[in-house]
Amino acid sequence: MKFLHFTEVDSTNIYALKNINNLKDKTVVFADTQTAGKGRNNRRWISGFPNNLYMSVVLKPSYSLEENFPLFNITQYMAVVVCRLLALYQVDASIKWPNDILVNDKKIAGILSETCIQGNELQGMIVGLGVNLNMTNESLSKIDQRAVSLNILLGKSISRDEFLHKLLDLFFFNYNEFLEEGFSCIKDEYKKKAMFLNKHIKINAPSETFYGIAKDIDETGALILETNGRERLINVGDLIC
Ligand code: BTN
Repeated sequence: MKFLHFTEVDSTNIYALKNINNLKDKTVVFADTQTAGKGRNNRRWISGFPNNLYMSVVLKPSYSLEENFPLFNITQYMAVVVCRLLALYQVDASIKWPNDILVNDKKIAGILSETCIQGNELQGMIVGLGVNLNMTNESLSKIDQRAVSLNILLGKSISRDEFLHKLLDLFFFNYNEFLEEGFSCIKDEYKKKAMFLNKHIKINAPSETFYGIAKDIDETGALILETNGRERLINVGDLIC
């Protein structure tokens, strides 16, 4: 594993994407602050709190795209790993499909995975993770969604570096198994953490909005939504509870 640390960068994901050809497999890019932190669906990720975690891990598994590589599932794998880690801090987190991490319905972490593909070759994948580790109530209130921070949950400040190292240990402990088996190796754990199952939900998909009951998660990590007595598989979208 190789570490690249910045006191400030535009975005660890952008840096990793731009430099993907020069970065080795399992390089971890992390920054104290980001000036252009990216969230999912072109949203911003506010990144001016130096003791939070802003990091991207570069992964270069040797797969061609014909093989069944679980690209979509790497974010779900990271979500399960973050929940495992928060459990070590005695915090019970849940997952909002596909990969928001919540504690008491408030967001504590977000994941943004991006891929770099040239022709039929996967050049690399970047799994970006932001975790609210050390924030004040005042700064949390400036975020445009209900958010919480680990220091506030535990009543003490959190070491970012310790959190990062524990995270990477957990991430790589089962990584080879995940590469071989895909979503099935985390399915049961993912479902246990999935706070939305059996609830009425709304999904904002790229071209449509769906309403229905979240029935299950299938073998590929897709959401099974029951709408008007019909089951529909949803692969991409944003869940609104
Ligand atoms: C989300 O919208 O929930 C995903 C947020 C992902 C934020 C992290 S912070 C580190 C990495 N660099 C970025 O610009 N974004 C991700």
